[in-house]
Amino acid sequence: MKKYIHALLVSVLAALQGPLAFAEESSVSPASMHKSINVRTPSPTSGQHAKKTGRQGKAVLQGKTLYKMYDCAACHSIRGAGCKEGVPLDGIGSRRSQRFLTEQLQDPEEHVAKNTKAFRGDPNLMPHPHMDDQEIKLVVKYLMTLR
Ligand code: HEC
Repeated sequence: MKKYIHALLVSVLAALQGPLAFAEESSVSPASMHKSINVRTPSPTSGQHAKKTGRQGKAVLQGKTLYKMYDCAACHSIRGAGCKEGVPLDGIGSRRSQRFLTEQLQDPEEHVAKNTKAFRGDPNLMPHPHMDDQEIKLVVKYLMTLR
């Protein structure tokens, strides 16, 4: 009887180990290893950093989401993503001031007309985005990170 139970246990274990071993093996792809290493080894200062930049980081992320929601990429590109023929916004945060970007989003027509030099005399082609002040603030925060 004891022997029988033992044999049963062994075969059950073997049957279980099959899929388990397989699952374990397949989950250790180089990509997932990389991921788990990243997750498990935060740098000693990253906690402090996250605390300090937490609110700011959230605003930037919200701005990025709004940029997507308002489909700015229909006419603009960032790092090659978006409209290839449009106006690239790479590095816009170092080219323009916060105020410049804010005014562009508040009223593109008026802003482009007022800044003929910055826009090389081009006529305004950007439609009014109709964003509220808070949304503009967040999108500008995001754009300012593009350096
Ligand atoms: C229909 C196309 C179109 C859409 C949609 C659009 N833009 Fe524009 N945008 C332009 C064009 C064209 C310009 C260049 C100025 C001009 O000629 O009007 C411009 C200029 C800008 C500038 C100034 C660039 C510089 O060189 O200073 C910023 C910033 C900007 N757009 C951000 C946005 C954001 C953010 C959105 C989404 C809310 C958006 N745009 C949606 C066409 C568009």
